[in-house]
Amino acid sequence: MQNSSISDLPTSSTHKHPSKTNSLIESFRSFSSTDQIPIPKNALEQIIGQDEAVKIATIAAKQKRNMLMVGPPGTGKSLLAQSISLYLSKPSVEVNVLHNPENTERPIVEIRTAEEIEAEKKLFKQMEGKLVEPTNVPGFVAERLGFRCRRCSKLSSARLSSCPSCGAEKFVREDSRSPFNDLLGPYLDERGRQDRVHTTKLNDNGMEEVVVYERQDEFVRVLDQKLLEKLEEMKKKTPRKTIVPLVRNNFVIASGASETELLGDVKHDPYGGHQGQNSLPSLGTPPYLRVVPGAIHEAHEGVLFIDEISSLEYIQRYLLTAMQEKNYPIVGRNPHSSGASVKVESVPCDFILIAASNINDVSKILPPLRSRILGNGYEVLLENSMPDTEINRAKLAQFVAQEVRKDGKIPHLTKKSVDLLIDESRRRAKDVDNVSNALTLRLRELSGIVRLAGDISKSLDEQFVQPDSVELAIKRGKNIEEQLNERYGSLWKASQGDVGRTEKGRNLMEIH
Ligand SMILES: Nc1ncnc2c1ncn2[C@@H]1O[C@H](COP(=O)(O)OP(=O)(O)O)[C@@H](O)[C@H]1O
Ligand SMILES: [Mg+2]
Repeated sequence: MQNSSISDLPTSSTHKHPSKTNSLIESFRSFSSTDQIPIPKNALEQIIGQDEAVKIATIAAKQKRNMLMVGPPGTGKSLLAQSISLYLSKPSVEVNVLHNPENTERPIVEIRTAEEIEAEKKLFKQMEGKLVEPTNVPGFVAERLGFRCRRCSKLSSARLSSCPSCGAEKFVREDSRSPFNDLLGPYLDERGRQDRVHTTKLNDNGMEEVVVYERQDEFVRVLDQKLLEKLEEMKKKTPRKTIVPLVRNNFVIASGASETELLGDVKHDPYGGHQGQNSLPSLGTPPYLRVVPGAIHEAHEGVLFIDEISSLEYIQRYLLTAMQEKNYPIVGRNPHSSGASVKVESVPCDFILIAASNINDVSKILPPLRSRILGNGYEVLLENSMPDTEINRAKLAQFVAQEVRKDGKIPHLTKKSVDLLIDESRRRAKDVDNVSNALTLRLRELSGIVRLAGDISKSLDEQFVQPDSVELAIKRGKNIEEQLNERYGSLWKASQGDVGRTEKGRNLMEIH
């Protein structure tokens, strides 16, 4: 899915725009294969049959509201949640934790805006010093850095080991015989060039100042005393770890069950974060480096999507607090770990919560959490089917075109193949949800059939997926209950005796 901006959001009028609807119906009436069916650019417009939910998702994205989606599996809940994130503006801050010299186990949170990050980058750039041509540095410096010939004083590339003018070796290793060899050793490279030259000069006040010249490719970097002091200062500045970077995905999925995944953690360190003292090196990793953000922190300024929210159980309480406070501490969650004594206060977590649940589990959602969502958001029931009308059949064809494009590896379907899928969709609405004259919106299963048919068709080297491949895919796509029902007439009969070896020893799992 491409990224979009708020202004691209479909309004309720464009979503059901008459001209768009007409052109979809027109192409549906005349298409011979699904590659001729237009696919809307907007992610939310690619979601079919869930107009109410799409409308609410639009508002959620614009107004930063929460949303609880309730509905059967495979009807587009994850798709909707992800689409919302595509319409949010990019995150504007990064979150760091800083070493706290007064109490290492209480690292400090630092929030930096894009501008502040940019300003620091600029500062670093300035600190890099001036780049000058070798002609602009004192002769002896140019010589030691490998630019100037010792014999004829001509300048040439530091990469050339002999002078192109007079032919003399530029880096005669007189030094190897010199009594100072040991002292110069660390500064000399394998050819006898120096990378850096330290020297002094008199400043305007007649004081002696340090100047460092550094070779950088064919140029010389000049660092004066002021810059060197600034660099020293920067190095001493509080070290930080970025836990939520500025450039990040603003759609975060929390699968649920784990407290640490949702709320963050501080990792264990076998050396207990041992700090070096009196110039002894430290053995451990300092606490601030062991801080790990949770999904709630990573979703700051974005969407936190929690599927099957009731499976969070007691963790729902923490989620509720996080939503109320818009910040939540990160602590070590394993009581036996050295991380347990570490705590970072007030880590920001201002996110839009998009939660999903199936109908049976709605009652297991913590009431205050539900009222929190409702208080600043919406609950929406997803449809399991849509009426069997021409426009909805056209939308199913659009869905097929989308699935082929998304998969990228399978051929498009012929009109007849799409008709078969529409029949199957009708059958499923009746058999699964007991709705007549309707088309199923349990589209994950249907997309599985499209893919299966595509694979079969590809193995037959077809240019387009033909009806035979779709028929075979529908047969193979049936679940075990349906297969048993078909083969034995009823599930009850199938469960009698050793079904696995009935029918001439054929294995039950063998699907035909
Ligand atoms: N309403 C829909 N419109 C278009 N495609 C859909 C829709 N519902 C499901 N799909 C297809 O099925 C896949 C799975 O849907 P998903 O959003 O994960 O369902 P859920 O989260 O409700 O279980 C999607 O990636 C998409 O290909
Ligand atoms: Mg899902």
